[in-house]
Amino acid sequence: MSLTVNMSRLRADLVSLSFIGRLTGGGITRTSFSAADLAARQWYQARCAEAGLALRTDGIGNMFAEAAGAGNGGAGSGAARPAAVWSGSHLDTVPDGGAFDGAVGAVAALESVRRLAEERVELARPVRAVVFADEEGNYNHLLGSTALARDFTRDELAAMTGRDGDRLVDAITAIGWNPDALAGNRADPEQVYAFVELHIEQGPNLEASRTDIGVVTSVVAIGGAVAEFRGRADHAGTTPMTRRQDPLRAAAQLIAALPAITATVSDTAVATCGKLVTFPGGANVVPALVRMLLDYRDPDAGRLARLDERLIAAARQAAAAHDVTLHWAAEPPVAPVELNPRVRSAIGASARGLGLSAVAMPSGAGHDAQNMATLAPTGMIFVPSRDGRSHSPAEHTDWEDIENGANVLLATLTGLATTGLPDSGSAGA
Ligand code: HGY
Ligand code: MN
Ligand code: MN
Repeated sequence: MSLTVNMSRLRADLVSLSFIGRLTGGGITRTSFSAADLAARQWYQARCAEAGLALRTDGIGNMFAEAAGAGNGGAGSGAARPAAVWSGSHLDTVPDGGAFDGAVGAVAALESVRRLAEERVELARPVRAVVFADEEGNYNHLLGSTALARDFTRDELAAMTGRDGDRLVDAITAIGWNPDALAGNRADPEQVYAFVELHIEQGPNLEASRTDIGVVTSVVAIGGAVAEFRGRADHAGTTPMTRRQDPLRAAAQLIAALPAITATVSDTAVATCGKLVTFPGGANVVPALVRMLLDYRDPDAGRLARLDERLIAAARQAAAAHDVTLHWAAEPPVAPVELNPRVRSAIGASARGLGLSAVAMPSGAGHDAQNMATLAPTGMIFVPSRDGRSHSPAEHTDWEDIENGANVLLATLTGLATTGLPDSGSAGA
């Protein structure tokens, strides 16, 4: 009988976490480095302390928890600790998000480390639970895991702003952290044996096919930009429609063109304007400035680059058509990844061992796993999302599905930390 998670503890943890940053309408806002994010971090620290786990936070806010000393696997505690098996996800949310995105994988990783420690399972290498900072990318897509994978220059960090226009370095200073410590957090790949992330699917496929587990094959490429159209503030009553330099009309032209632009790239390309701010923002003032946040994706890096070019060209056209100027600040793209066949195979075998159905599938959402895949063999486990809803308070996953996913995670981590990566064979489901 294989080791299983303590589901009543895991469920109680997810429920108590869901009250941190909860809004009156039922959604959750835990933006990275906000008061709610700090409360979630404290909550996580308390869970680690309760379980006797050692917790470390790096300079950009990633948290790492593992059993101190010999309890967690026994092997190699002390100076010559072998590379660890890592697992985790994120505790931050999108604005008005749900209770499951990120939280399920972060808490299930913690639960796995707790179960291995309390059962004193003898491991060949430690298992480390990770919480990645700002996965939702208020300041930069997958901020914390990108820092682990490739680090940021001080100039890049100084230029990062959140959706409200606030600078990352100011947000970090305001919470009493050291902005100089945001750089220099790259992980040593020699210290990472493998990485596995449990996550909700955030799409409709598992539910529709009545499949318990998704074994993720690849993760999408992501681009992002802040586009600013600058025109001229004028009186809304006295300025003829033909004499305006209205940046909102340029923004509207670009937004209306998004479906046609993505269709020129591929069937799977998507582009979204999720936030648009007009300045100065009065009903009777023609806006002087419009700031729009854009997110665009495709499974293929070359096609993402084409999408990027076509969006910029369309934005320039819109600016010219409305006699306004354009400033386009692009985020460095997040590369797509293929996940490791041996980790996929380990996940598939764990699911089968628990009598669960599994299917191989790509991810259209971004995940920290795509950065971790540049450091070590990496895999992801998906569990169903009701109606495929996510990034919304409507997000829901049944407890039974969370229990299944967490048990597949625990079995996979146990296998990786004892017998190691399986020989390459059938990749997953
Ligand atoms: O945006 C994403 O795909 C992820 O949820 N951070
Ligand atoms: Mn997520
Ligand atoms: Mn998300």
